[in-house]
Amino acid sequence: MKNMYLFLLSVLYLLLKVAGTKEVLFGHNHFTEYQVGNMNLILSVPHGGSMEPKDIPDREAGCWDAKTSSCIYSHKCSSGSIQDYKKCKVSTNQDRYTIEVAQALAEEINKITVGFFPHIIINHLQRFKMDANREKEEASFGIPQAEQAWEEYMGFLTTAKSQMTGGLILDIHGQAHPERWIELGYTLSKTSLNSGIFSASCSSISHLASQLINVSSESLVAGNRSLGKYIEEQNNSYVCVPSPSHPSPNNGSYYSGGYIIKTFGSLSSGTADAIQLELPQWVRAAEERPRFCKALARAVMKFWQTNYCSQYNHEFLPC
Ligand SMILES: *[C@@H]1O[C@H](CO)[C@@H](O)[C@H](O)[C@H]1NC(C)=O
Ligand SMILES: *[C@@H]1O[C@H](CO)[C@@H](O)[C@H](O)[C@H]1NC(C)=O
Ligand SMILES: *[C@@H]1O[C@H](CO)[C@@H](O)[C@H](O)[C@H]1NC(C)=O
Ligand SMILES: *[C@@H]1O[C@H](CO)[C@@H](O)[C@H](O)[C@H]1NC(C)=O
Ligand SMILES: [Zn+2]
Repeated sequence: MKNMYLFLLSVLYLLLKVAGTKEVLFGHNHFTEYQVGNMNLILSVPHGGSMEPKDIPDREAGCWDAKTSSCIYSHKCSSGSIQDYKKCKVSTNQDRYTIEVAQALAEEINKITVGFFPHIIINHLQRFKMDANREKEEASFGIPQAEQAWEEYMGFLTTAKSQMTGGLILDIHGQAHPERWIELGYTLSKTSLNSGIFSASCSSISHLASQLINVSSESLVAGNRSLGKYIEEQNNSYVCVPSPSHPSPNNGSYYSGGYIIKTFGSLSSGTADAIQLELPQWVRAAEERPRFCKALARAVMKFWQTNYCSQYNHEFLPC
C-alpha cells in the first residue's frame, strides 16, 4: 500500500516536472497541506497556522510527575501527577506571517530558477491546538485529531524527502527577540558557537559537511560559505547569527533548532540537510516581506549553487 502510494507520487512528480504545474495534497480536514515541488528544497512551516477547531482542546500545560521528574502531556492528569504551569508549560505562540513568507520565498525561487518550485509543507492548526515542531506527545496531548494532523505533517516531510536524493530543508519560524536579528539554527548550541569549537559534521547539515571535506566548519556555518553570509550580502540590515558579522550569539538570544531539523536533517543519518530560520518580526511584516523574501530567495540560491552544486551531485535540481 505504502509502496504503491510512493510509486504514484513519483509518477505524479515526473508529470509535474514536465507540465510545470503544482499539485497540492491536504491532510484530514485540511489541517495540513503539502504543495508538491520539483526541486531538492523543502520549506516547512510548523507554527504559522490559524485554524482553531473547537473539538481539539487548547494545549496549555502538561502534568508534572514527581516520581519520574518528568512532564506527561495530557489534558487529564493521572493520579500522582498534577498540571504544572511552570515546569510543564508548553509554547503556544503562533509565528505570524510565516506561511506568507514561505509562499513568497517559493515564488521568488521559482522566478530565479525559471520553473523550479520548492516543496512546501504547512501546519494550518494554531500552535495551541497542535505544535508540529515537538515530539508527538507534547505536540498533540493525546488528542486523536491532533495526533493525526501531526502524523500527516511528518508524513508529508517524509514523502517530500523521498522525492529528493538529498538536498535541504528550511524550517521557517518567527521570534520577537530584542536583537531583531535572523537566527539560523544548525542544532549547534549557543555555547559551542560562542566557544568557536564546533563541528559541522555534528550538525543538521552534517551530510553537506561530509561532502565538502576541504571546507571548514567555521566557513560553512558562520563564514564565507554560510547561509548567514549570503543573506547579509543582500543587505546588511538583514543581520544574521551565525554569520561573518556575528559568528556567534554571545550573550544574545538564540534558537539553535528544534524537533524538525533534529529529526529530518542529517544530524544522525540521511542525506537531507536542515536549517531552522528564526525570523524577527520586522522582516515578516507586510511592509518588508516582499523585499526580504526576494533577498532571501537570492541568498538561498547562492548558498545552494556554492555548496550543493559546485562540488558534487549535479543531479540536484536545479544545478
Ligand atoms: C582538498 O585539499 C587537498 C590539499 O590542498 C587537495 O589535495 C585535495 O584535492 C582537495 N580535495 C577536494 C575534494 O577538493
Ligand atoms: C572570506 O573571504 C575573504 C575574501 O576572499 C577573505 O579575505 C576572508 O578572510 C574570508 N573569511 C573567512 C572567514 O573565511
Ligand atoms: C536595506 O534594507 C533596508 C530595509 O528594507 C532599506 O531601508 C535599505 O534601503 C536597504 N539598503 C539597500 C542598500 O538596498
Ligand atoms: C551583552 O553583552 C554586551 C557587550 O558585552 C553588553 O553591552 C550587553 O548589555 C549584554 N546584554 C545582556 C542582555 O546581557
Ligand atoms: Zn516557531
